[in-house]
Order: sequence, then C-alpha cells, then structure tokens
Amino acid sequence: METKRIYIKDAEHVRDEELLEAAEIIRRGGLVAFPTETVYGLGGNALDEDAAKKIYAAKGRPSDNPLIAHVSCPEEVEPLVEYMPEAGKKLMEAFWPGPLTMIFPKSSRVPYGTTGGLETVAVRMPSDPVANRLIALAGVPIAAPSANTSGRPSPTTADHVWQDMNGRIDMIIDGGPVGIGVESTIVDVSGQVPVVLRPGAITMEMLRETLGEVTIDPAILGPMAEGVRPKAPGMKYKHYAPKAELTLVEPAMEDKKASMTQEQVEHMVSMVWKLAKEQIDAGVRVGIICTDESRAAYPEGIVRSIGARKSQESVAHNLYGVLREFDDLKAEVIFSESFGEDHLGQAIMNRLSKAAGYKIVRV
Ligand code: TXA
Ligand code: MG
Repeated sequence: METKRIYIKDAEHVRDEELLEAAEIIRRGGLVAFPTETVYGLGGNALDEDAAKKIYAAKGRPSDNPLIAHVSCPEEVEPLVEYMPEAGKKLMEAFWPGPLTMIFPKSSRVPYGTTGGLETVAVRMPSDPVANRLIALAGVPIAAPSANTSGRPSPTTADHVWQDMNGRIDMIIDGGPVGIGVESTIVDVSGQVPVVLRPGAITMEMLRETLGEVTIDPAILGPMAEGVRPKAPGMKYKHYAPKAELTLVEPAMEDKKASMTQEQVEHMVSMVWKLAKEQIDAGVRVGIICTDESRAAYPEGIVRSIGARKSQESVAHNLYGVLREFDDLKAEVIFSESFGEDHLGQAIMNRLSKAAGYKIVRV
C-alpha cells in the first residue's frame, strides 16, 4: 500500500479543506495517522470492526488490547456509553478537551472488535485542533491507538510514524511535533471509585482535586506479580522498549512522590557515570540519558539530554524521541537518570520503568 503524507500549514489553525480527504478515508474504512496533543494516533472508524482489524494488523498488536474511541465534542459520547457515571461528568467538565481518557460501560453500538471483547469502552476528546477537526469531519468516532509498531516507543513526530507505518496505512497527517509527548491519563469511571489505569498529563493531584477519592491500579506502580491482571490490557505488554538494554538508576528515597533533593540528584548522577564508565572501559557502546543540568557530568559515552530536570514538561516531551534516537545510534546498553514521581513525574517514571522492563538499580 502506498502511504500518502500530507503537511498541515498551520496546525493551530487547520483549514477544513486540508482534512477532507483524510476524513473520507476514515469514513470508507481506511487508516489515517494524525497528531494529537499527547502522541500521534493511528485512526480508523471506531464503529467499524473491519477498521479495527486493520489497525491491529498495521501495528502488529494483539487484538485483545482495546482501542480508545476519540470524539470531537462531549455530545458524541452519549451514543457510545450505556450510561454516564457522575465521576465521568465531572472529569469531562474539568479536563476535556485534553489528555484524559475515561473508561465507560459501553453501549451496543460499539463493536467488541474495538473494545477487545470488553463490556467497557475508552473515550477521549483531544484538544489538538487537527485531531479534533478530523474527528468532526469524519462524522464518526475515531479509534486510535498510538501510531507505533507494537512494542516500539510511541511516535511524537510524523517522522516517527513514517518509520513504523510507511506502506501499512493510507495516510499520515504531519502536523509537526506533539506538545505533551506521553499518552493520555486513563481513568476507569465504570466502578464505585474511579481508578487510574495509566498516568499522564492529567495528574493524580489534579484528579484528586476534582473527584476526591481516586485509586491507582497496582500495575502502574511496579512490575506485575504473577497472576495479577492489569485493568488496562495494554499495560501487560512490554512497552515503549528501546532496542538496547536500559537500566534506570534511582536514588534511595523515603517518599518517591516527592521531588528529589539536590543531594539525591548529585549522588544519582555520580552513580550513573560510575556504571556507564565501567562498561565504556570494557568496550561496550554505552548510551546515557541525562538532563540539561547534568550533561557536563558525562565526559564520554553517547550522551543525550531528555530535557531539563526543573521542567517535567520538557522531559515528557522528549522522552520517546530520545528512546528512538538511541535505537538509531546502536547503543548496546543505556543508563538513565530517574525522576521524582510527583505530578507529571509519575507518568515519566511509569514510561521509563516500562521501557527498562523494570530493570532499576537503587543507589
Ligand atoms: O494519548 C493517547 O491516549 C493516545 C492518543 C493517540 O490519543 N492513544 C493511546 O492509545 O495511547 P493506545 O491504544 O496506545 O493505549 C490505550 C490503552 C491501552 O493500554 C488499552 O489497554 C487501554 O488504553 N484501554 C482501552 N480500552 C480499555 C478498556 N475498555 N478498559 C481498560 N483499558 C482500556
Ligand atoms: Mg500505545
């Protein structure tokens, strides 16, 4: 299949004419990758089981891993859900459009092909103007997982999508690099107490402020114990993996939800350098993931900054791009600094820990 790539002139003020062909492709059952504020999505008609099959095939993704249905306005949710829980209403008002996905009891209109056989459906209303307008013009909810090959880091630029999807889908809409860089927060509002299934830019702190009681799926916090099933099926797969073996280096912290002290950071940096240097001296191609602040502490190795430690937003924004870059650089092992788990830090550490297959050295 030939993949057409189109370029949006001004992604903040996209014109309908630029998206009409893409909307038509979605309507007739084809696949279009498009930018959102979190990561690029791989879209197909969420009400068309055959489109869902094509999405799984293009990604090489197991079909028991359900897809998120993207809508362009709150009114489009009603036909997809059995009923609207109170917590769902509150979260929609507070955080939509934006990087928040909610799990609802599904209506009969949503095919099991989209929900991986589940009785619930994941729904999100993106704020990105290209994504939002594309959904509205298609006139159907758009099922869209991240537009990467299953197991690779999620795409944050159209080039990343091109690397993984060229020849496999009908169109890629290039709207420039995304803003946030990690996938949406997922909250299950289908039960008694809302549960966070995946951390993202809508943080635990923000959710608690709106809802009061919110719990977190244990699968987020560490490697899964034998026999425990995560509530988001996608969380069970090894995700976001770079090709090299990645080790996270973490300072001993009493409260991981706090930000790190200067002393903890300095100790961690010196340990990352010690571990990296041992391997460099043994002739290994070593990658180091550092921050703008610590760069000068690493005189050798393939050193890349993931952003500024003082700006969690910059770290989230660069995270997947840096992991992909290391694949191209053919690093054999990578050592990475870690981050405190306050605010956006929880999403950052969730993605880094999974990329490392939970190989974490505490120093
Ligand atoms: O930011 C995002 O959410 C991006 C952009 C494109 O919108 N999409 C995204 O989709 O990250 P995907 O498919 O890569 O991740 C969706 C996650 C998976 O872990 C899946 O298991 C979970 O959502 N999920 C979907 N439907 C679910 C359901 N009914 N119950 C529990 N988890 C669900
Ligand atoms: Mg994904």
